[in-house]
Amino acid sequence: MTGLRLEQIEDGGFAEVQWLVEGVPESVIVHRDGDTARAWLNICPHAGRSLEVAPGHFVKTRDGHLLCAAHGATFELAHGECVGGPCRGQHLVAVAVEVRDGEVRQR
Ligand code: FES
Repeated sequence: MTGLRLEQIEDGGFAEVQWLVEGVPESVIVHRDGDTARAWLNICPHAGRSLEVAPGHFVKTRDGHLLCAAHGATFELAHGECVGGPCRGQHLVAVAVEVRDGEVRQR
């Protein structure tokens, strides 16, 4: 269903995929962390915009946080919590994923 291989994502980087999440087509941010991956809906809790700066391109701050390009919210990558900007304390919606045989899939 995904076709996304972990090796396609730079370690520490991000990819955007279109997945069915609970039956709904969604844009999903996949973050690679070494041999593992985490994923969230590509919907900022501030104003509901997608986070990327250009299609499929996400910005990481010098602090190692994911930046929402719309109004500058920043999210830590362990739990997707907003740690700076207009929605501080809110969270991205997690999508459960696993890496199996090198492929990133929803759990
Ligand atoms: S929509 Fe992300 S900071 Fe406003």
